[in-house]
Amino acid sequence: MRILITAGGTHEYIDPVRFISNASSGRMGYALARAALKAEHTVTLVTAPTSLRIPNGAKVIRVETAAQMFEAVKKHFRLCDCLIMAAAVADYTPARPAKTKIKKTGQSVTLTLKPTTDILKWAGKHKNEGRRTKDDRRIIVGFALEDKALRTRAEKKMRNKNLDMIVANSPSVIGAEKSNVQIKRLDAPWIRIENNTKSAIAKEIIHLVEKLQSSLK
Ligand code: CTP
Repeated sequence: MRILITAGGTHEYIDPVRFISNASSGRMGYALARAALKAEHTVTLVTAPTSLRIPNGAKVIRVETAAQMFEAVKKHFRLCDCLIMAAAVADYTPARPAKTKIKKTGQSVTLTLKPTTDILKWAGKHKNEGRRTKDDRRIIVGFALEDKALRTRAEKKMRNKNLDMIVANSPSVIGAEKSNVQIKRLDAPWIRIENNTKSAIAKEIIHLVEKLQSSLK
């Protein structure tokens, strides 16, 4: 399969030298890229800045902002069989980033943010574009980070965004080496993977994607 994977937390610029971001390390996305390569898939990795080593064999596209990530995903979406959105895309970006460095005034400041495009939702809407037959379907996998009502909220996200699979976890796993996840596929019960390395979880996610792909044929 040709698998498009996003990773890392986007940077949203306030001025040329300052940005807002999140605590994502990018580890899950990179582990997914490695697992997919090991299973002999073709991998395109769209990555926001991370301190991780680039996986050997992946085509890598480096981006910084949510808007750049959206452009990169749109560009490579048509040619992929599966999109896995593991990136922590900022939901909001500064509405009016300053062109020059903002000077301090000693006063408090208010930052106005505007929503970014929900890339996953866009992908869900365009899921079958460019596909040849109705059985030739593209698989879309999303992630959900939920403090409470994890299963209910994640499943709702999966249906609202027209996904095939959602990987849900809690904010405590951000940046950690090991993780707990719960995975839901359409028409299959929840799967729970506890206290496992991100590379073991990634391998399982790729395995589930392969199973989904063969069930569509
Ligand atoms: N995502 C995306 N584009 C965005 C924001 C998020 O593609 N602008 C993707 C993430 O990569 C992840 C999933 O959507 O796969 C996570 O969704 P999340 O941001 O948690 O959910 P929301 O629908 O934004 O809802 P909420 O923030 O209320 O939980």
